[in-house]
Amino acid sequence: MAAAPEPLPRLRTRRLALRAFRRGDLEDLVRLDTDARVMRQAGHARAVSRADVVAALPRICRYPAAHPGLGCWHATRRDTGAYVGWFILKYCGKSCDVEVGYRLLPEAWGQGFATEGATALVRYGFDTLELDRIIGVTHPDNTASQRVLMKAGLADAGWGRYYGRRLRLFAARRFDFGGLDAG
Ligand SMILES: CC(C)(COP(=O)(O)OP(=O)(O)OC[C@H]1O[C@@H](n2cnc3c(N)ncnc32)[C@H](O)[C@@H]1OP(=O)(O)O)[C@@H](O)C(=O)NCCC(=O)NCCS
Repeated sequence: MAAAPEPLPRLRTRRLALRAFRRGDLEDLVRLDTDARVMRQAGHARAVSRADVVAALPRICRYPAAHPGLGCWHATRRDTGAYVGWFILKYCGKSCDVEVGYRLLPEAWGQGFATEGATALVRYGFDTLELDRIIGVTHPDNTASQRVLMKAGLADAGWGRYYGRRLRLFAARRFDFGGLDAG
């Protein structure tokens, strides 16, 4: 019997391997989402509970079936196989805008991984999915994430209301998008 097709394409950058999240990835997701440092930087008041993560993983795994080509990618280092975090390309909250996003373990910060993965997803979104526009949103204080979005080719677009909050907004259009090196 042929293997079931993968829900999302595998993507490779110079140093990262990205693939769809699976049910068996629970411990990786728990490690990331229950880390107070990660959630603080992302602008969340508190880390989520293990029970929240258990509830979220099936939704994450089902997302590409409802939104082909979009979802959440599990990312590992190609040299060591170590899990570094996730990258998303999906609808932003209840809006019709597609956002690029990322959440990495603290030991992976400051090495350009977020820029590398985000750049690959922006290129995939424009080249493969032929999206017209990709946005990114951050908490106003998350300058690291704002820098990542700009290095991935998105421009400062001011402010927007997403997830019920006023957030910094960045955007790129396929029409304006020059070739970027995915690293
Ligand atoms: C934000 C985050 C993804 C950045 O990842 P990263 O892999 O460290 O980012 P990069 O190494 O690609 O760095 C990108 C830029 O951000 C800058 N940067 C990194 N950390 C920074 C910090 N704490 N303050 C200011 N700038 C910072 C880097 O210097 C780099 O810019 P430069 O090349 O001009 O020097 C990571 O810290 C993270 O996962 N944080 C928790 C979750 C989160 O905030 N997600 C985003 C929600 S919007």
